[in-house]
Amino acid sequence: MNQTEERKREHVQISLKENVSAHHNFWDDVHLVHNALPEINENEIDLSIQLFGKKLNAPLIISGMTGGYSEGKKINEHLAAAAAEFQVGMGVGSQRAALENQKLAETYSVIKEYDIPLKIANIGASQIVLWDKKQILENAEKIVEMIDADALAVCLNFLQEAIQPEGEAHAKGCIATIDMLSREFGRPIIIKESGAGICGKVAHQLRKTKICGIDVGGAGGTSFSAVEYYRAKIKGDTRNMRAGQTFWDWGIPTPTCILEVGKATNWELPIIATGGIRHGLDVAKALVLGANAAGMAHALLKPALKDKKSTELELDVITRELRIAMFLVGADSVEKLSTAEVKYGLTE
Ligand SMILES: Cc1cc2nc3c(=O)[nH]c(=O)nc-3n(C[C@H](O)[C@H](O)[C@H](O)COP(=O)(O)O)c2cc1C
Repeated sequence: MNQTEERKREHVQISLKENVSAHHNFWDDVHLVHNALPEINENEIDLSIQLFGKKLNAPLIISGMTGGYSEGKKINEHLAAAAAEFQVGMGVGSQRAALENQKLAETYSVIKEYDIPLKIANIGASQIVLWDKKQILENAEKIVEMIDADALAVCLNFLQEAIQPEGEAHAKGCIATIDMLSREFGRPIIIKESGAGICGKVAHQLRKTKICGIDVGGAGGTSFSAVEYYRAKIKGDTRNMRAGQTFWDWGIPTPTCILEVGKATNWELPIIATGGIRHGLDVAKALVLGANAAGMAHALLKPALKDKKSTELELDVITRELRIAMFLVGADSVEKLSTAEVKYGLTE
């Protein structure tokens, strides 16, 4: 196992074994107002949405997490089976490992065997910024083909890059690279943060490109500073433990990201709300705030490590919870959720 494979394995192992969540989940500050007279029937609620020209049976994306090492294949396969069963979207983790070692491609491409309505390829911005234009377009094509993807997510993860010992914290030229890719690559590009969030100012810059959506990847859920804290702890590396601890809660709360990004883009770009979504009620809250779909990573990792059935059971519970929340606010379609009443904070 090379260094990248080992790191991928450690991320999954640590995320499962340790508590790597931010200390506060901001979805707890968002409250949907109960409608005692919903005037709809629960069994008539329609959870389906259209996203990037694809029909999903629920407004859910399984966020990109893994691939690039043997156990990652199994996790991706279990997630893929559940995504196909529930007809929701799915991303894979950064495919850089497979570009460096072709043998690892199958740990991602396994998802091609499943009828998933929206598949999202993944590469880090800190990687592509180092390539020339020809390499960027060629590698983008390779990773999209690898999983037969409908869209490519470019992941912004500079918090993690700054903290992890093998990090590549170079961000110069990023927006120009994203702009080029969004104009010259023939498929939809999604810009995705991975736990530190996207603010209005950044969304404003992104809006000038030709990207097709923003996954806000906000704070409140998985903290990659926390993951790096535990990686450093295992190695007895006190210097990096300190950085991981200091930046544990760094980032923009996911609900804030949705509101800021929506405003900055005039609500014209689809927004995926990832970061701290634990269950169907959090999904409903994200949609009420204006997101088009919600992304979930950590909540699905444990069942996905186990088997297909556990992963499907978890998605069944999540969609049921979403349906209940929609019933209780009187929304019989995802579109109508945006009219539900919301309150912020505990004392309001
Ligand atoms: C083990 C693990 C590995 C991840 N790897 C990637 C990755 O390779 N690329 C990426 O864009 N995001 C990656 N993420 C971030 C997730 O897609 C997501 O944005 C983040 O975990 C926040 O969602 P959560 O709070 O539901 O976990 C990873 C998350 C986890 C838990």
